[in-house]
Parts: sequence; structure tokens; C-alpha cells
Amino acid sequence: MSEDTPIEEQTKTKEAEKEKETEPKKSEYKFIEDLPGVGPATSQKLRDLGYHTVESLAMATSRELEPVGVSEKKAFQIIGAARSAIGINFVRADELYKMRQTVLRLTTGSKAVDKMVDGGLETQTITEFYGEFGSGKSQFCHQLCVNVQLPPERGGLNGGALYVDTENTFRLERIIQMAKHLGLDPEQVVKNIIYAEAYTSDHQMFLLENADEIIKANNIKIIIVDSLTAHFRSEYIGREMLASRQQKLNKHMHKLIALARAFNTVAVVTNQVMAKPDQFFGDATHPIGGHIVGHTSHTRIYLRRASHGPVRIARLVSSPYLPEGEEILKVTENGIEDVTEEEKAAKTRGR
Ligand SMILES: Nc1ncnc2c1ncn2[C@@H]1O[C@H](COP(=O)(O)OP(=O)(O)OP(=O)(O)O)[C@@H](O)[C@H]1O
Ligand SMILES: [Mg+2]
Repeated sequence: MSEDTPIEEQTKTKEAEKEKETEPKKSEYKFIEDLPGVGPATSQKLRDLGYHTVESLAMATSRELEPVGVSEKKAFQIIGAARSAIGINFVRADELYKMRQTVLRLTTGSKAVDKMVDGGLETQTITEFYGEFGSGKSQFCHQLCVNVQLPPERGGLNGGALYVDTENTFRLERIIQMAKHLGLDPEQVVKNIIYAEAYTSDHQMFLLENADEIIKANNIKIIIVDSLTAHFRSEYIGREMLASRQQKLNKHMHKLIALARAFNTVAVVTNQVMAKPDQFFGDATHPIGGHIVGHTSHTRIYLRRASHGPVRIARLVSSPYLPEGEEILKVTENGIEDVTEEEKAAKTRGR
């Protein structure tokens, strides 16, 4: 029902709605216009704000709907209905276990790295790759765009990829090389990647805020932001801008989590490191973005070069439930691959 319908009709439908409210209404609301309280005017404003699907509305907060101009109560009602439609509610812990089972896994291309993260990158949370330039962050992103298209028995999710590129480093040639190596039709693989270049941090945020419909229509199963922090880092300079930078990054990361949950997709971000000159012990490099990025990335993987050549070291730095770990892999013309036993032995011999 909508605020734009005549009064008598509204009262009639309100009665009917009350009745409906008592029963579960999963999948009853397919489009945002089906939600109670969303008439043409409201739906237009919601769409202008980037809420094109019931799934993304279910993940919204009433504060985020403030610009729509509806009361807080009504915003709650709209969000509540959207949540009921996709079945998000209080759950018992045993049900939580069942929900965790809807988490899917995507192969990275390296069995060793997959094992380190419990069988592949998971859907519904953010995985962050951080490391110096040339450490292989974008190579992982390219590989994941191809792998996501594989069938589950080969470690894929039978889905498409959404690639937000902030540094213009996405290369189709790489995708084609990787697709051929996996025996996939490169033409088809390329068609399943939705690409967007983000010109500024605001544009980057705007792209995600308006991505819900594209994700749904293209069966997107991985959302990539490469790099998460580059624009923010170059636009927000100095201490006085730090707070607003962190606030925006926080909002951006939360939008990404919301999309990953709503559509059960993998979410990958990349991040560079900066040197901490005041640190004398251990590794003096730290990922950018401080606590905000650290806390919102569920799984953080630190990539570094082993020496000259294709070998890289991937270190699982933090995970909500896995111990730290370290594995080696290589970046070759074929993409991300495991190192052979021979290469491993050579590395331990210090060659
Ligand atoms: N076709 C290829 N064959 C073999 N190795 C390649 C190929 N393309 C790229 N690489 C390797 O990947 C490296 C680049 O890695 P990548 O672009 O992922 O770095 P990055 O971590 O994203 O760096 P930045 O911080 O600059 O974005 C190259 O230096 C090279 O070692
Ligand atoms: Mg890169």
C-alpha cells in the first residue's frame, strides 16, 4: 500500500495488512513498490538513494532512509517488511549455524591459500588483500573474477563478477589468459564481468550505493573494490581530514557488507601498506585505513614478494575464527597457482 492511494482505500488495505503482518511473508514482496508504505513517490526517492531492490532495503538503517522524507516509524516499517521478505530476523544459535551453512566458498586458484582460509573466500563477509605494489593484489582480483564463473565442483559459484577499479589497472588480456588456462570460453567469461572505473572516492561510493540492481540482474557472486583506499588516501590529506575520511570509509565498507549479505556474494577489497618509521621490531608496514578498515574486513590477507620471481607469500593476518597462517603461491601467466614441491624445496634452501 502507498501514501499516494486514496484515504478509504488506505483504511481498507490497512486492515488487510494488519492481518498479513501476523503471518510470515517471505518472498511476498518482490519489488520495492510491493512493500507496505512504498508508493510511487517514496519508491522514486528510494531509487534515487540507490535502493532498487528489497534485498538492499532489508540491510538499510532508518537513518539512511532519512533523506526519503518518511517518518522514522515508517522507515522502520519499510525496512521491517523488506527484512521479513528475505527472512532476516532474530534467530536461535542453532539456526545461526544453519545460516552459516548458506555461506559459499570461492577458490583463489591456490589450494594452499584456499586451505589457509578454510576452503576458499567466503560469501557474506569482506576479505581484504593488502600489500606493497606488485605484491599480487590485483592479480588475485582478476583471478577471482574468472574463478567465480566456474561450477561449484571446480571451486566456483556459477556467477558473475562486479569489478570497481579505482586505479585503472583492470586488464582484459589477463582475464583472457586466465580463462583460457582454466578451459573456459574467454568471450563468455568477459561477458560475465561488470566493470566500473571509479574516478573519485565519492564516485566509488556512489557506484556501490547503486549496485544492487546490477548485482541481482547479473547473478553477481563477487564484488571487488580494487583499491579500496587509494582515492581516499589521495583526497583526504592531513590530520584534520582524517575523521571525515574514516567516516566515509566506514560507510563505504558497510554498504559493501550489506550487499554481500543481501546477495550472498564474496566481497574483496585491496589495500596498500604504509611504512611505520617508528617501529623497530617486526614488519614495519601497516595497511592503510586504520581501525575502520581493520574491523570491517573480516578476513585480512597480507601479500608480499618472496624474492625476485613469481613466488608470493600470503599471510592470514586476521580472521573471526581461524588461526594465523602463512602459505606460498606464485603469480604466473596462468594466474594464481600453487608452487610445486620442487619450488618449495628451492625456497627453503634459500635459492
Ligand atoms: N602476465 C603475467 N605473467 C606473469 N606475471 C604477471 C603477469 N601479469 C602480472 N604479473 C605479476 O604480477 C605483478 C603485478 O601484481 P599486481 O598488479 O597484482 O600488484 P598489486 O599488488 O595490485 O600492486 P599495486 O599496489 O601497484 O596495485 C607483476 O609485477 C608481475 O610479477
Ligand atoms: Mg593493484
